[in-house]
Amino acid sequence: MTTHYFTASSLDGFIATREHSLDWLTSQDFDWEGPMSPTRFVEGIGAIAMGASTYEWILANDDGWGYTVPTWVFTHRDLPTVDGADVRFTSSPVPDVHARMTRAAGERDLWIVGGGDLAGQFADAGLLDEVWIQYAPVMLGDGAPLLPRPLTLELLDTQRNRAMVCARFRVVR
Ligand SMILES: NC(=O)c1ccc[n+]([C@@H]2O[C@H](COP(=O)([O-])OP(=O)(O)OC[C@H]3O[C@@H](n4cnc5c(N)ncnc54)[C@H](OP(=O)(O)O)[C@@H]3O)[C@@H](O)[C@H]2O)c1
Repeated sequence: MTTHYFTASSLDGFIATREHSLDWLTSQDFDWEGPMSPTRFVEGIGAIAMGASTYEWILANDDGWGYTVPTWVFTHRDLPTVDGADVRFTSSPVPDVHARMTRAAGERDLWIVGGGDLAGQFADAGLLDEVWIQYAPVMLGDGAPLLPRPLTLELLDTQRNRAMVCARFRVVR
């Protein structure tokens, strides 16, 4: 079982603008059936974790809830639920949530959707195995950070997907 942080980023290491916009990303030419796309990646995923801002962005912008597997949303607040979605709100310690996710996922892997600090909390606990990044050809200057931790990675794979450069790394412990 592998725990992945799979995300898209600007070249200067931001996953959203300061105002939580992803317009710079959704406007990119990207083949959703192509190399290292979320469509293929999610087939191997059995449980998901995300932070409150990411969850709120999905509620505000996506057309319905796109995930079929159990999803843990880290928050200290009462957030709205989504009809038909298996969403569990939590502020429990990351290792406890990781253990619950692992039990729920069975043979499949875990996906930390973001944001970057939440992925960092999993890394701090020694529970992050791989980082997958689709780099968009833009600089944002500032915004939500990709993974604000000192971390050493080993490059495992790279692919071009139209406008994006996709890279997969292993976390070196
Ligand atoms: N480029 C991409 O592919 C991509 C991928 C994922 C996300 N995004 C975007 O990136 C942005 C990320 O936002 P963000 O940096 O604010 O990160 P986030 O992880 O989405 O949200 C941060 C919030 O999650 C809650 N949280 C985090 N850790 C927690 C913990 N241990 N216990 C309890 N609650 C915890 C806190 O919310 P409260 O305390 O307020 O409840 C915190 O303020 C969003 O705009 C999202 O849409 C982009």
